[in-house]
Amino acid sequence: MQNNRTFTLIKPDVVLKGHLGEIMQTIQDNGFKIIALKLTRLSRVEAMDFYHLHKEKSFYNTLIDFMISGPIVPMVLEKENAVEDFRKLIGATDPQEAAFGTIRRKFGSTKTKNAIHASDSIANSEIEGSFYFSKRELFV
Ligand code: CMP
Repeated sequence: MQNNRTFTLIKPDVVLKGHLGEIMQTIQDNGFKIIALKLTRLSRVEAMDFYHLHKEKSFYNTLIDFMISGPIVPMVLEKENAVEDFRKLIGATDPQEAAFGTIRRKFGSTKTKNAIHASDSIANSEIEGSFYFSKRELFV
């Protein structure tokens, strides 16, 4: 992933509640350009693979069950300082602790149903982006 890109994934709670459009508008209003996007669904094996770093955590099975419970929308976004700025825009993992005005505060409900995922580093954004998109789709 280029330095000015990040990866994000809108989770099933948002899509099923019909808030996808509002979140995409928020993302664009905050200066992020959408480079790649798809509406898709994970199999259990794919979800386990995507979240393999958390496999020893107590919440892992709950997280996997939730992530396969409905459609998701992975995206690659572009903006200067994208990884850090997008983490600020989504807020803390727990929506109850996330700052007012953040996406998780507004649309999330629990630590599992927290509306959206975002990469925590440029290196991870590359790994996560290529999990969902081909090089051709990413224009690289
Ligand atoms: P995400 O950004 O997708 O990365 C890992 C996910 O694990 C995280 O968002 C949360 O949905 C979930 N998660 C992290 N910590 C906890 C926790 N303490 N309890 C339940 N779920 C968690």
